[in-house]
Amino acid sequence: MSKNTLTITDNRTGQTYEVPIECGTIRTMDLRQIKVSDDDFGLLGYDPGYLNTASCKSMVTFIDGEKGILRYRGYPIEQLAEKSSFLETAYLLIKGELPDKERLEAWRYNIQMHTMVHANLTKFMDGFRYDGHPMGILVGTVGALSTFYPDAKNIFDMESRKLQVRRLIGKMPTLAAMSFRHSMGFPYVLPDNDLGYAGNFLSMMFKMTELKYSPDPILEKALDVLFILHADHEQNCSTSAVRSVGSSRVDPYSALAAGCAALYGPLHGGANEAVIRMLERIGSLDKVPEFIKSVKAGEGRLMGFGHRVYKNYDPRAKIIKKIAFDVFEVTGRNTLLDIALELEKIALEDEYFIDRKLYPNVDFYSGLIYQAMGFPLDMFPVLFAIGRTPGWLAQWTEHMNDDEQKIARPRQMYLGEDKRDYVPIENRPKISQLVENKIGMCRL
Ligand code: CMC
Repeated sequence: MSKNTLTITDNRTGQTYEVPIECGTIRTMDLRQIKVSDDDFGLLGYDPGYLNTASCKSMVTFIDGEKGILRYRGYPIEQLAEKSSFLETAYLLIKGELPDKERLEAWRYNIQMHTMVHANLTKFMDGFRYDGHPMGILVGTVGALSTFYPDAKNIFDMESRKLQVRRLIGKMPTLAAMSFRHSMGFPYVLPDNDLGYAGNFLSMMFKMTELKYSPDPILEKALDVLFILHADHEQNCSTSAVRSVGSSRVDPYSALAAGCAALYGPLHGGANEAVIRMLERIGSLDKVPEFIKSVKAGEGRLMGFGHRVYKNYDPRAKIIKKIAFDVFEVTGRNTLLDIALELEKIALEDEYFIDRKLYPNVDFYSGLIYQAMGFPLDMFPVLFAIGRTPGWLAQWTEHMNDDEQKIARPRQMYLGEDKRDYVPIENRPKISQLVENKIGMCRL
């Protein structure tokens, strides 16, 4: 009869161990019993980049990368993108169910009540250099919110938690728009709560002297859908950062600031910005084959392609590609689109990309849309952060409620020097280039 266990034989000792299998995983702590001697620490799993390690049990988002499936709380992303709104999806992610009419209205109202930021935050914002990257500003200001709301440290008080969730979803677009206005030298725009979530964000971004800003409904809808598509993506780099930092039981503002910092990187939330820079560098259609050749020669990556989890077309990329054409109807065609389409066409037929299962990801077309809507490149990861906020909060809440979780503290394989005694400076040999290379100083 088949058993849900794994039998391991340690060939060093000849001993056999049986460990349970739960949902296709073994607990690496069960490996610890595997020792060669009593004073041996026990066997560890080694998994740089968490390629094959589950760090939590989650009920938020399901991804099947091979089949190109993404679901929030069981609902397919395609249905949410078509039928839901960002705030409704945020409710779903955080509370676990779609709201009824009354709940949705209350949720909207509660979030709108928190769109303003403390007036002192504008002074804080003013302190950044005029050309500071808005993502750096976002990291700083989201973290700074913890100093405005010291009650946020009561992370096991449900009322406090609810309040911080509403504040973070409400204030994220305000901080994002302020970071842009600061970099442009434009005065900040107060939130307009007559507008929807995406519409209000567009108003805070682009309102100039008009008394009331009226967002184009197609652009507003497109942005709302883009926020939905970015709302969660299970245990990605930034979400793992939020969970990991949150596991120290710090307040959610500090945990989400860590998420923003992780999202800043070009391999994560910065990829859509990198896609546009790449398309601009390519410059024209006739240069596409040459560029593909250089990627295949390892001289750079085709940004917006490839994914740790999706080994099939990213389902979000399909939806985004369609939105791009709706947006271009209003804004005019982004001239880089033709280069992107040609790149995609060639890459999807090329053995290098086929063999490695590299398909367009969420970032391949989103940047083109943002650019056509008038967002500067620097703002792209900030837009990602607005969308990802409910996902971070849903995952943070789940982490806080999970009794099995402990402070995140990975182990390491120590490969450094054995014990040695301190040498006074006058007795040390001169550091040669060889030694510098060995200790990695040249890479600092
Ligand atoms: N262009 C060219 N080659 C690539 C690319 C790419 N975009 N992505 C992966 N490869 C190659 C890589 O060189 C390697 O080849 P080989 O086996 O010959 O050494 C192979 O494919 C596997 O790559 P990997 O780096 O081991 O894959 P990974 O799962 O660690 O990386 C990734 C995933 C997203 C970091 C990577 O595909 C990448 O750098 N893509 C470009 C950046 C990008 O678009 N990022 C956005 C990700 S989606 C948004 C998000 O969720 O944050």
